[in-house]
Amino acid sequence: MSVSIFNTKEVQEFLNLASGLTQSAGNDRTKAIVHRLLSDLFKAIDDLNITSDEYWAGVAYVNQLGARSEAGLLSPGLGLDRFLDMRMDAEDEALGIANPTPRTIEGPLYVAGAPEANGFARLDDGKDTAGHTLIMHGTVRGADGKPLPNAKVEVWHANTKGFYSHFDPTGEQQAFNMRRTIITDAQGGYKFQSIVPVGYGCPPDGPTQALLNQLGRHGNRPAHIHFFVSAPGHRKLTTQINIDGDPLVNDDFAYATRDGLVPPLVERTDDASIKANGLNGPFAEITFDITLSALVNGVDNQLVDRPRLAA
Ligand code: DHB
Ligand code: FE
Repeated sequence: MSVSIFNTKEVQEFLNLASGLTQSAGNDRTKAIVHRLLSDLFKAIDDLNITSDEYWAGVAYVNQLGARSEAGLLSPGLGLDRFLDMRMDAEDEALGIANPTPRTIEGPLYVAGAPEANGFARLDDGKDTAGHTLIMHGTVRGADGKPLPNAKVEVWHANTKGFYSHFDPTGEQQAFNMRRTIITDAQGGYKFQSIVPVGYGCPPDGPTQALLNQLGRHGNRPAHIHFFVSAPGHRKLTTQINIDGDPLVNDDFAYATRDGLVPPLVERTDDASIKANGLNGPFAEITFDITLSALVNGVDNQLVDRPRLAA
């Protein structure tokens, strides 16, 4: 039998009580958010006639998510990270702010404290022998379109198994493998040598993948490279590029693909290019210029502060 009690005085007063709205102690913002989310959940239980068994499966699921540290993986999978980006884009549009290089989600796998290099860095340690050499480079420009020397380009990506250092279940990768901070040169240039990454997949035995299975969805991302780009007078840009040609470029479970973030990948096999890059064989080359947006009234109005791993 289905009952509907959400709109009764008893339940509405109970929601106020459980959310601390009847207490003077506590945090008003927390109370407002909890009251809203709890109300929406109560209403959903009523409207969908969610059973006790379904409810307790949900409670167990939340515990599994925490035990496996997968809350930050489920979030992009359910499109919440993308939704937060859509909101920032809409805010920028309302303020008339252009983002020549689009933002896209950070993902859960950044690690602070990567080694810093000037102008050029090699990201990989050479041990992933399945890897195809990648040379990626570009110019970082300011809001005025002029090249920005001394900008900070933080870059991180996965290996050929789709695993990130510090989160690699095989334990194969050393600290900060395929993670670097590159300071742009006098012409605003950054350049790195690494290997072409392979797409990431959710842990197949984890709770994120389990829920995606229930939704009839896959848990895979196209191969991609993450960036934080920052410079004085500008807002920090969080973005990624996809590896052109990956079959999942337009089918990313984390919804991070955007127009302008799939630069062409060019295979270089000629001796001149190989020699010019100090390499001894063919490589892939990606050119990707990045333009930052100006501070808003002197502040980065969209800076995201979130718990991040630091090593
Ligand atoms: C996830 C993994 C990523 O590498 C990424 O960039 C975004 C999300 C995830 O597991 O949810
Ligand atoms: Fe990623």
